[in-house]
Amino acid sequence: MRNPSLNPCRRLSAAFLIASLCPFVASFVVAPDSADRSVHASTLTVQDGTIWAGVYTDEQAQRGMQTYEQECAACHLDDLMGDGIAPSLIGSSFFFRWSDLSVGDMYTAIRTTMPQGAPASLSPSGYADISAYLLQKNNVPAGDNELPSDVDGLEGITITEAQ
Ligand code: HEC
Repeated sequence: MRNPSLNPCRRLSAAFLIASLCPFVASFVVAPDSADRSVHASTLTVQDGTIWAGVYTDEQAQRGMQTYEQECAACHLDDLMGDGIAPSLIGSSFFFRWSDLSVGDMYTAIRTTMPQGAPASLSPSGYADISAYLLQKNNVPAGDNELPSDVDGLEGITITEAQ
């Protein structure tokens, strides 16, 4: 005759076995998911997207304007329209030159060649501020986050003429 008291006992040990296996099983199921989420989060910090997503702040563009006036306006003029061989930095010239490139490309081009005669003489954040000012003058709306001053961060932001 079977001893009925064994049954609950077996059930209990079966439950224990499943419970103890659970964390292992769970780790297989959960790991790819959480890895996925952290990739997504880091993508967000580099602000992947276009310039139309609110990628600089008004304060940053304000600082950029001051630096522009000191360092760039002598040749590119206060209205950014350019003068002689110094090209216009706004409107169709801006988008013709930079469309489909990244803000990182523009930042690097400016940093490595401008101000003419003294390239790379400003701080990285000075060049980021000027890039923000150029976006503002090209009617790109500001947002809550400043443009970063590292090229990796800026490469994720594409310049497009239309939103
Ligand atoms: C002494 C005059 C002078 C100053 C100051 C100057 N630029 Fe220029 N800039 C030029 C000339 C000339 C060109 C065209 C030749 C060239 O690209 O080197 C030019 C080209 C450029 C271009 C186009 C580059 C490209 O790859 O198409 C940008 C953008 C630019 N300048 C931004 C700036 C900014 C921003 C500053 C201030 C930090 C600045 N410039 C200061 C004279 C100047």
